[in-house]
Amino acid sequence: MSYAHITGWGMAAPNRVLTNAELERMVETNDEWIVERTGIRERHIARDGETPSTLAVEASWKALSIANLKPNDLDLIICATSTPEYIFPATACLVQNKLGATRAGAFDLLAACTGFIYALDMAAQAIRSGSIESALVIGAETLSRFVNWKDRNTCILFGDGAGAFVLQASEEPGGILSAVLHSDGSGGDLISLPAGGSRHPASEATIRNEMHYIHMDGRGVFRFATRIMAQATREAISAAGLQLQDVRWIIPHQANLRIIEAAARGLKMPLEKFIVNIDRYGNTSTASIPIAVCEAVADGRLKAGDKIVLPSFGAGLTWGALAVQWSGPLPVERKVRPAYYRILARLRSFLRRMWLRLEGWIWGRDKV
Ligand code: UT7
Repeated sequence: MSYAHITGWGMAAPNRVLTNAELERMVETNDEWIVERTGIRERHIARDGETPSTLAVEASWKALSIANLKPNDLDLIICATSTPEYIFPATACLVQNKLGATRAGAFDLLAACTGFIYALDMAAQAIRSGSIESALVIGAETLSRFVNWKDRNTCILFGDGAGAFVLQASEEPGGILSAVLHSDGSGGDLISLPAGGSRHPASEATIRNEMHYIHMDGRGVFRFATRIMAQATREAISAAGLQLQDVRWIIPHQANLRIIEAAARGLKMPLEKFIVNIDRYGNTSTASIPIAVCEAVADGRLKAGDKIVLPSFGAGLTWGALAVQWSGPLPVERKVRPAYYRILARLRSFLRRMWLRLEGWIWGRDKV
């Protein structure tokens, strides 16, 4: 049986940083309120020309280089995003083209902020089933383009960025150990982007009514999130056959420091066990977990062999968690099996092509 290991990781954030002090000049708010209620001090904001795909490509090159893979080695690209560049084509296809990943299938996945967790599980399942050997999973956002900069309830929260993981097959146990995914569409109105889809296509009226911005019932989302974060974490731990004390780090979706603190209380774990960087990025939706993971690896907190849990929640409503044994890049000898399988797959496809030609020739001859 194959295991799906995370063998490469990368992140990207726009250089432009928007501080709470600057927001104070834009809406009726103040640094003290924002820090106390959310934990956010600053966020990165995309400039003109910076888009989910440009950020995703930057993060992906880093991830591919750590995994020691070329774009052409990729079988699949999944881009989880709440802010796709278009309804179609998929942002994943823009990334596929920019990377030159000519062998890869590519699609977007929409589960809002939980999207990265969903996408990792989909890629891991495809690897475990044997249908693919490698995948690039991306979370990429430019939420700043959908924020109403006059609405203090939302504009203080969100930031832009991207993160990417490379997943590869290996026979060595580890990698993605378990996944739990949930949804409850009855809470769909708690956070939504009402216009621009087929229900309310863009029109003068949708713009006049500010339906092209993020709409949110902050308290409602907060109540939901504090209820499910600890619960999803426990479910993922138990599905992986682990105990709470086996877990080295919890790396949660970064939406609000108070939500992370509530999860810590619910799990009876100290906050020190949580990787938190919301103060410098705000809520970057699907990108928040991979960015936090990249920082934890870079500063030496997250090491090969560590067991971690990645819980998340978002619009939909959706929520879920993954338990992961962190791998690091695969040593060369562990890549032998994928190479062997690649040769087999090529041989199989060559034989199939020959068989089809032979069949065509036989049928053609019969007709004559
Ligand atoms: O990925 C999922 C994305 N969404 C979320 O995760 C959102 C989850 N919710 C939250 O993080 C919090 O609910 C918020 C940060 C959005 C709001 O915090 P809160 O403690 O729930 O505040 P509140 O909405 O209950 O508002 C309290 C007061 C209100 O004033 P009144 O009605 O009590 O006079 C708001 O108008 O704070 C006011 N307020 C602000 N004041 C200063 C709301 N936003 C601001 C602001 N600055 N930016």
